[in-house]
Amino acid sequence: MRLLALETSCDDSCAAVYDTASGQLLAERTFSHTKAMQRFGGIVPEVASREHLCALPLAVNEALGECGLTHSQIDHVVVTNRPGLIGSLAVGLAYGKSLAFALQKPFSVVSHIEAHLFSPLLARTLGQEPPAFPWVALVVSGGHTELFFVEALGKFRWLGGTLDDAAGEAFDKIGKAIGMEYPAGPDIDKIAAAAPESARTAFHFPRAQIQEFNFSFSGLKTAVALEAAKQSPLTPEGKANLLASAQEAIVDALVNKVRKAQRELGGTVVVTGGVACNSRLRAKLPGAYFPAPRHCSDNAAMVASLAAARLGANLLPPAPWDVTASAREDW
Ligand code: KG4
Ligand code: ZN
Repeated sequence: MRLLALETSCDDSCAAVYDTASGQLLAERTFSHTKAMQRFGGIVPEVASREHLCALPLAVNEALGECGLTHSQIDHVVVTNRPGLIGSLAVGLAYGKSLAFALQKPFSVVSHIEAHLFSPLLARTLGQEPPAFPWVALVVSGGHTELFFVEALGKFRWLGGTLDDAAGEAFDKIGKAIGMEYPAGPDIDKIAAAAPESARTAFHFPRAQIQEFNFSFSGLKTAVALEAAKQSPLTPEGKANLLASAQEAIVDALVNKVRKAQRELGGTVVVTGGVACNSRLRAKLPGAYFPAPRHCSDNAAMVASLAAARLGANLLPPAPWDVTASAREDW
């Protein structure tokens, strides 16, 4: 059976084709809206919706073209319908529904966060085994910072999340405060990696002491912005010190909660989502499982592999035609 998976929850238009018989990913495409968003210094939801209208059909056609399939050779359409930017989700959902309806093929929806959470299952498409359950799993991106305890497919418990900004959002807003382009996370990672080790401790930014398994990054963001104003104009060395110290504070906050969960619950640490690309986070969590970087950022391959796993376990019901998109998801 060939699945067509679509992902449009934020500012990437993604399509993937997956063959359930061989467990292989046949093609994947991600069209990022980064260029369009850089004019505004961040994501403008209305602009993202309009970009999806243009880019999603191209992503689908290119993915199908790469594996030499026509639309009618697709057996099942699966779409992310929650959580995310409501306009962006609505475009992907309407496109997927229309396609499935026209082709008279089954149609299902999955959660974007659950797709990130189970993205280690993509290891199978690379001929590798995913880590054994249970997992202490952190989903950390521009929109989310959520910690879960995962016992099996479809069996997981939310432990906590951010009370304000997501970790990726903190990276991006800290960068924006000192005039960096959106998204600043990857560039902050590069600047910090190139700086001497002492840069990480040049400033001591707050590691918010939040209860249980929750996180908070907005106080840190403000502290970094205030320090940047104090140091203005920033020298290249001052900028590297500021960013490496800020990154250290974000990474420490994430690592502290992940380790606390692992101590209390046991299991393999799994980290997914765009911020899982961060080299310092990877270095500070030795032994943790991180998917390949292209499968950490938003992609449709994770939607396809979650759908395939759910289908195999009889956990992928057909969605009704009037299923809606939802900006939020409560765990
Ligand atoms: O998962 P993702 O592609 O989209 C969302 O669902 O948000 O994550 C994008 C986020 C952005 O905030 C970006 O700055 C951050 O991930 N990011 C990074 C790195 N690569 C991407 N943050 C820190 N270090 C990186 N290497
Ligand atoms: Zn995401």
